[in-house]
Amino acid sequence: MQNNTSQKTTVDPSNEPNSQNDIVAQMRTLIETIKTNNYNYYVLDNPMLEDSEYDQLRRTLLELEEAYPDLVQPDSPINQVGDVPLSAFTQVTHDIPMLSLGNVFEYDDLQDFMRRVNDRLSAAQQSPEYEMELKLDGLAVSLKYEYGKFVQAVTRGDGQTGEDITQNAKTIRNLPLWLADAADIELLEVRGEVLMPKAGFERLNRLATDSGDKTFANPRNAAAGSLRQLDSNVAASRPLAFYVYSVNQGLPENIATQSDALAWLETLGFSVSAIKVIKNPREAQAYYESVIETRSDLPFEIDGMVIKVNSLALQQQLGFLSREPRWATAYKFPAETVMTRLHSIEWQVGRTGQITPVGKLEPVKVGGVTVSNVTLHNFGEIQRLDVRAGDMVSVHRAGDVIPKVTRVWTDQRPKDSAPVTLPSTCPVCDSPVVLPEDEALARCTGGLFCPAQQTEALIHFVSRRAMDIDGLGASWLISFFEHGLVKTVADIYKLHEHQDELINFEKLGEKSVQNIVSAIEASKHTTLARFIYALGIRGVGEGTAQNFAQQFGDLDVLMNASIETLIKTPDVGEITAELTYEFFRAPHNIEVITALREAGVHWDKVEQKATTGLPLDGQTWVITGALGSMARDEAKAKLQALGAKVSGSISAKTTALLAGEKAGSKMAKAEKLGVKIVAEEEFLAMLEKV
Ligand code: IVH
Repeated sequence: MQNNTSQKTTVDPSNEPNSQNDIVAQMRTLIETIKTNNYNYYVLDNPMLEDSEYDQLRRTLLELEEAYPDLVQPDSPINQVGDVPLSAFTQVTHDIPMLSLGNVFEYDDLQDFMRRVNDRLSAAQQSPEYEMELKLDGLAVSLKYEYGKFVQAVTRGDGQTGEDITQNAKTIRNLPLWLADAADIELLEVRGEVLMPKAGFERLNRLATDSGDKTFANPRNAAAGSLRQLDSNVAASRPLAFYVYSVNQGLPENIATQSDALAWLETLGFSVSAIKVIKNPREAQAYYESVIETRSDLPFEIDGMVIKVNSLALQQQLGFLSREPRWATAYKFPAETVMTRLHSIEWQVGRTGQITPVGKLEPVKVGGVTVSNVTLHNFGEIQRLDVRAGDMVSVHRAGDVIPKVTRVWTDQRPKDSAPVTLPSTCPVCDSPVVLPEDEALARCTGGLFCPAQQTEALIHFVSRRAMDIDGLGASWLISFFEHGLVKTVADIYKLHEHQDELINFEKLGEKSVQNIVSAIEASKHTTLARFIYALGIRGVGEGTAQNFAQQFGDLDVLMNASIETLIKTPDVGEITAELTYEFFRAPHNIEVITALREAGVHWDKVEQKATTGLPLDGQTWVITGALGSMARDEAKAKLQALGAKVSGSISAKTTALLAGEKAGSKMAKAEKLGVKIVAEEEFLAMLEKV
């Protein structure tokens, strides 16, 4: 099923690689998967696919059907929305069918949608106003009010017939049961979305976990499960909300637009989500993008925007095409989970020899960017996922978070696939690979004999937070390394001796060479902390390097320190102390350090802060989770100003953990080690006092 691997699948009938039988077989597989998912989704509230994966399968099927209309299967679910309703509720036929919306995913498609609208309008009606709403990720329901009194709620069901869920709907807190200002309307029918806000969903799942019950996959399913409760007491205990998005019967005649209709519904007492009237595709795009930015701050989940022709008269004129309005479409957000094929797994060697598996994917667009590599973290993760080369996988990427494999479709696994094994030798230098007990990462034992480790060490050395040699990018550095121009970091400071050679080097040119040479020259003046960090000692990150610089004030003192002395540094445990000690005992490292100093690398004298007298003197704090009142950097600066050291990881030496919202594993570790946990309010109170 190669075709469902990319977001925009194109089926090209002119280039027929498959026989008709293959096409039919592909359609059948898609149909069966979609149907099974429909049942799981609509009836069991237990989806087996992410919404975006499901959309993708449907799109692939639709495209196949468009390309091969003669082969369309009689039971294709493409024109069928939802699945059979449960039989325990009374079935109600909708006065007006509840239809669905078409989708667009890109700006071009949105423009096409608006063009199609224009094509059906007269010259005087061209470029109508549009109204945009959030596409709420819940369940569509129809509500009826007779002379202002709420009388009935019905789910969408299959669009023609739904289930009477009046009793359950009555329990929804923000659903008005009485509309004083609509008391003279014989029959008012409104439609909208029942959803479960994120906070309530998380609370519900926490309770379920605590009592050993099954948790819901997402807020949408939790809302669906809650609405389908035969016992409305259970529904009442669920945090549901209703947001209205249309009036389908009984709208006062003086209301002529969708935006006015929603404004009116709001005055009646309904909740309405954010709306905006826009005049052209550019404005639509700007609003769409601004909502993407703030999406995570919304109390509920949305999966896109809905864009509707604002004039109700024009809506009527435009009408419907099959089961979708011509006057509205959903402008979906980029899928955050998509399926693609994992072609192979490569092992990469890091700066300190760590061997990490990287999945090579069939490139796929996810969360708005094309992804072709995905880290699989370590061998344990591969085993946990049971992922193999050739597998179809789900890749998730939301916001700026790095993409990850969230699921492996073992049922679609190629027959000849084999489990992944950890390489016994380094893929770069062939040295033996070891997987130390208690460690997640396997390691190449080649040390600086391993070219991968050498080049990674070079790249780390020049990086912004280390020696900051701007202009000497990783690809040039690797190239210089491969041509023998640099072997160790000390050779970087000899590059100026090879200027002529460099100028002719792969068309680098005089100007670039000069830039590189002067950047190298400028980097000679640095700080002790940066220098220590740049050396790339295992376990010594930026924070530890700063602590070493503060504690020892001088490189020679640090180099000669015993393990016992090193351990006295804040944030330094036994392992880091030992690794540091060993690093400064390796003759090769001493040689490189000497060469660097001889080349002129120097730093200002370290001002060892006299921290005595500050209230948090001698304390080490760790910050975790999201703080409501300030950014973490700000909290860090405040703590440091009070004399505390701020570290990235918890150890028995940590004085306190400042824990914001969604504090994860650090919280557990702090509890385990008996480290004091300080909540944000407590922290703010402390700041007031000092
Ligand atoms: S208007 C003719 N507005 O999206 C259909 N629908 O794919 C008009 N939805 O079943 C629907 N937010 O469950 C509309 N602001 C919104 C919506 C919205 C979510 C859902 C609704 C509908 C589905 C259509």
